[in-house]
Amino acid sequence: MATIRLGDIAPDFTALTTEGEISFHKWLGDGWGILFSHPADYTPVCTTELGTVAKYKEEFDKRNVKVVALSVDGLDSHKGWINDINETQNTTVNFPIIADEDRKVSTLYDMIHPNADDKATVRSVFVIGPDKKVKLIITYPASTGRNFDELLRVIDSLQLTAYHKLATPANWQYGEDCVISPSVPDEEVPALFPKGHKVVKPYLRITPQPN
Ligand code: BEZ
Repeated sequence: MATIRLGDIAPDFTALTTEGEISFHKWLGDGWGILFSHPADYTPVCTTELGTVAKYKEEFDKRNVKVVALSVDGLDSHKGWINDINETQNTTVNFPIIADEDRKVSTLYDMIHPNADDKATVRSVFVIGPDKKVKLIITYPASTGRNFDELLRVIDSLQLTAYHKLATPANWQYGEDCVISPSVPDEEVPALFPKGHKVVKPYLRITPQPN
């Protein structure tokens, strides 16, 4: 297992999921992807997380993001637990969950942190771009449910960078002013950002969000 870093190609794999076998890169196609692990089926925090992700489907679709979850439990366990998620979270799970019983994918993505728990995956999140490169890695402890609004916020920022040469400042929220990437030469700024821009410092150039 090699450490995965931002900018690396996301390791490809085939895996059994609740929606059939997937070949990861092929399944991602030319869109964006989220691969996220949870410690175990039939646990309280995970139940709320997977229910929340199901409810965010429209938001992920808008951003052309496919989502796949993972734990080291088996397919039958996943399928039984999905009924509980649907019932208790008032939703329908609408994304695949990988049954990583042999820990192939967890090992590939370093999702098991033995000093935290040697049997279960921690709460890892990988965001993968259309170029199959890893754009974001977050690791949460088992006891803390993730903030999926934050995940959407980062994906919006990543897409502004990918499609508009923009970065986003501290605590940025969708619709607020953005930062022009330092790689954009001053002479290209007016054409690239027709909504206008403000030069606070030569290295700090602000423009309204374009989209
Ligand atoms: C949970 O998913 O609910 C959980 C897992 C491990 C520790 C604490 C909570």
